[in-house]
Amino acid sequence: MSVVGIDGDTLGPALKRVQGEIDSVFDAFLPVPGDTRARLVEAMRYAAIGGGKRVRPLLVASTAELFSVDRTSALRAGAAVEAIHVYSLIHDDLPCMDDDDLRHGKPTLHHKFDEATAVLAGDALHALAFEILADHGTSSDPFVRSELIATLGMASGMHGMAGGQMMDMVADEEGVEYDLPTITRLQQLKTGALLAASVEMGAILGKIPPEGRNHLRAYSRDIGLAFQIADDLLDVEGDAALAGKALRKDEQQGKQTFVTLMGVDKAREQARALVDQAVAHLGSHGAEADTLRALARFIVERDR
Ligand code: IPE
Ligand code: IPE
Ligand code: MG
Ligand code: MG
Ligand code: MG
Repeated sequence: MSVVGIDGDTLGPALKRVQGEIDSVFDAFLPVPGDTRARLVEAMRYAAIGGGKRVRPLLVASTAELFSVDRTSALRAGAAVEAIHVYSLIHDDLPCMDDDDLRHGKPTLHHKFDEATAVLAGDALHALAFEILADHGTSSDPFVRSELIATLGMASGMHGMAGGQMMDMVADEEGVEYDLPTITRLQQLKTGALLAASVEMGAILGKIPPEGRNHLRAYSRDIGLAFQIADDLLDVEGDAALAGKALRKDEQQGKQTFVTLMGVDKAREQARALVDQAVAHLGSHGAEADTLRALARFIVERDR
């Protein structure tokens, strides 16, 4: 995947590397069984291997790198976050949610397989995330493993992704009118929580105590919000062939976003300001944080 015009030198190779590594981790965790569960695992592989940008695993790995964490541990934690993300996309595309036909340039999972398989593949990827984190191979330290599990759990459930998805689904109901603080909260839960968890998990692997993570939390809060604003801008202005998914749907589906509330120009201004702010939070780091800086820029300037 080319990373068009965005700090290509720093980020392109880093993204490419992590994409290959995460594909290998999923390949190893998902051998197809020789019984009637085969359809489930084939569906999990269809959604999890290839396709995604792998922004979340790169956030885990780049944060972990600041603290010289072993690469295998970082990749396993990154694959756990990505498993939750992939599951959220499978369910997000279902007819009862956004009703989408295309993801990563391929038919969505419920079209390629069927709806029951899509529900179950999401369920099983959700469980796989915690299986990976609970395993000794992710960290030999049980305190680290339990903190990773708690962090990803919080970011996935009602206090995170699922909660935000509920707010997103309710947005099209009659009489539901979100103001800016509410849309900010929706986006922070739906998308920001998993991105923030990615950074947090890198710091947990590095055994950095919570009080030492404040600047990283500030960075990830800003990029989390910017990431969803960029997705909503892409929905209005993007090229569906590059994005690999249907665009121009949010307004028609009654979504409430920064773009619907403040328009394209103001939303883009807001996203760029958030990225500048995110990069400023990394001021105490030197060149070792350059991938995190480049990722922040990529997040708003991306075309997919
Ligand atoms: C898309 O996320 C859905 C949102 C949370 C905005 P990504 O843009 O990270 O999706 P992939 O995994 O790279 O396709
Ligand atoms: C999805 O947001 C966020 C998730 C938690 C999956 P969108 O519904 O805007 O994501 P796309 O545009 O379908 O990728
Ligand atoms: Mg959605
Ligand atoms: Mg969607
Ligand atoms: Mg979208």
